[in-house]
Amino acid sequence: MFERLLGIVPPHVKNQLGAYAEAWSVLSEVKDPRVLASLGPSAIRGLILRRGKNGTPTRMKASHAAHLDWSYPADQPAMRALYTKAKKLQWDAARDVAWSTDVDPLDPSRAVLPANFMGVERLRDHGIRLTPKEELALAHCLGAWMMSQFLHGEQGALLAAAQVTEAVQFFDGKLYGATQVMDEGRHVEVFHRYITEKLGKLYPINDNLFVIIDGLMTDSRWDRKFLGMQIMIEGLALGAFGTLYKQTNEPLLRDILRRVIQDEARHVHYGVLALRTHIRDELDERERREREDWAFEVAVLMRDRFMAFEVYDEWFVGRMSRAAWRTFISESPGMVNFRQVMFSRLVPNLREIGLLTPRIMPAYDRVGLLRYMRGRSADQLTGDGMIAELDGETAVAAAAE
Ligand SMILES: [Fe+2]
Ligand SMILES: [Fe+2]
Repeated sequence: MFERLLGIVPPHVKNQLGAYAEAWSVLSEVKDPRVLASLGPSAIRGLILRRGKNGTPTRMKASHAAHLDWSYPADQPAMRALYTKAKKLQWDAARDVAWSTDVDPLDPSRAVLPANFMGVERLRDHGIRLTPKEELALAHCLGAWMMSQFLHGEQGALLAAAQVTEAVQFFDGKLYGATQVMDEGRHVEVFHRYITEKLGKLYPINDNLFVIIDGLMTDSRWDRKFLGMQIMIEGLALGAFGTLYKQTNEPLLRDILRRVIQDEARHVHYGVLALRTHIRDELDERERREREDWAFEVAVLMRDRFMAFEVYDEWFVGRMSRAAWRTFISESPGMVNFRQVMFSRLVPNLREIGLLTPRIMPAYDRVGLLRYMRGRSADQLTGDGMIAELDGETAVAAAAE
């Protein structure tokens, strides 16, 4: 019936109906009723009301308990060490980045996304043939879309880092958190400048990213905020940054990503330290299971839901269906690689903080994520180590070609 209806309406109405069907499928994909109840209001604001796209500043109600301690305990030596390291490794996005580099997104030899990122020839299966110039323009749009989502994610990270710094019960964690707030501010600065000066195109926030950020901002439990931001979103960011770092031919972007990845490695490391202690010492079995289920559902949403529909809306409405675009993007070589890097970072961290127990393992196994289980978690990897791993993979890939 729905398919028949779609056949007779104009393309833009069809696209809107398709977007609502997408929104419904996001919610119906969440199997756990408690997870659905907690994501539901954010999903309505993000997917139905589309608050991230209505052009006005977004106001979200944040309600968490601030934790102060007038005795200033030295309570977490590992967090204190991260704080010391973070102070030493600060960099200045204005001074230390070679902004004079000439960036031309339409020059294939130094494009933001390499030619094979999208596997654009597969569009022919849908009867779409692009000229070489159009292919470059489409890759430019997808690159700008990705960078825009990085920027929006960084704004979410900036606010979440500030909230977590207020709420966390570890005093050394608060000192460390202050450096993360600064790091995230710098990431907003550096990505915004790159997008406006070098790419000339800023996309609105993706609806699904909005849902996750809205959920984190409005959740009053600090450890859920923390799990969402420091483990899940940071894992997603490291996946995306790592993929682009490996694949881009654009030297300025590569330098920026190298710097940002090193900062993000500390953020996830802190997330693992704080949550490992909290989940082990503070949560009862029921609370731990609830976090376990939530993390799994969000991991699956992240795997399936960043499909650049904003680029589809611009290029392909009326030329191919939303479902066909979804398959096209999800199976593109760049996105396949992104998911690999993301989950190779994320899954070992979930193991390390105690949320990948034998109870939930079959669920991860069913969606193909258990193979990442044995990787190194963030507390076993430095920023330099992460970059060396990515460089190593690049070298191996180049040698294999
Ligand atoms: Fe960041
Ligand atoms: Fe971060």
